Amino acid sequence: MTDHGRRFQDRRVVVTGAGSGIGRATALRLAEEGARLLLVDRDEAGLAETAQLAGGAELHQLVGSVAEPLFVNQVVDTAAQELGGIDVLCNIAGILRFNNLADTTLEEWNQVLGVNLTGTFLMCQAAMPQLLESRGNIVNTASTAALAGHPWTAAYSASKGGVVAFSKGLAIEFGRQGVRTNVVAPGSIETPIQNEFFFPEGADHSLLKRIMAFDQSRGPEYVASVIAFVASEDGAHMCGSVLRCDGGTLS
Ligand SMILES: NC(=O)c1ccc[n+]([C@@H]2O[C@H](COP(=O)([O-])OP(=O)(O)OC[C@H]3O[C@@H](n4cnc5c(N)ncnc54)[C@H](O)[C@@H]3O)[C@@H](O)[C@H]2O)c1
Repeated sequence: MTDHGRRFQDRRVVVTGAGSGIGRATALRLAEEGARLLLVDRDEAGLAETAQLAGGAELHQLVGSVAEPLFVNQVVDTAAQELGGIDVLCNIAGILRFNNLADTTLEEWNQVLGVNLTGTFLMCQAAMPQLLESRGNIVNTASTAALAGHPWTAAYSASKGGVVAFSKGLAIEFGRQGVRTNVVAPGSIETPIQNEFFFPEGADHSLLKRIMAFDQSRGPEYVASVIAFVASEDGAHMCGSVLRCDGGTLS
């Protein structure tokens, strides 16, 4: 096993979406590097599995939706009580829906924006006082869909474009006060979210290459390593950056 070092020794970290995929891989990577963690997901069974995989690390768990302001307040209160503050906030929870523009309902639009963009906003807003105190940092999760045209994902693409713009705003607004905000933009990562993929009726299949990895798909640990880099002191001079991790899709 690779020894990744202990860059997060005793660092207090909140990870959303920690019950699966990239969130789980990030929680495990940061736990391995010494972090004390508060893991958040709406999927209780997924969170329990992550906790089991993390072995002996200090872990706290909260089940709920990041799209709900009352729950988000509970998350930051729990971080204050159990961890004594927040050094790193990783907003990874997200949902994906494929659909033609014409078939995208307002309900679906609001649902996707509500989790991916509003959830990220709520978490950052609520955690900011603790991050200002610790001079900590935020890593938000966008997608290649935020950086280049991505078919059949109007709501998802808009939500992730919003995450990039919102994060750059935070980087400027709080950077001089010592809080860095950066974005990771994955593409073609093998996680359960990919089960959402289907060709909408009448879709031009040749557009698929816009969203396929240049070389091959890879596992979520390859995104976790990028998140760990930028959230650690190794990334201390990065603020407002968008780190693409997509096997070359957008090259
Ligand atoms: N896998 C990819 O190829 C890919 C590409 C680009 C971006 N992303 C982004 O990476 C992030 C993680 O996705 P993943 O691939 O690990 O998918 P995943 O489905 O494996 O994990 C997403 C996790 O978020 C949780 N979640 C969803 N809605 C939530 C809510 N309202 N509150 C709390 N938790 C919630 C889910 O329960 C799940 O555990 C997402 O933001 C996704 O958009 C993934």
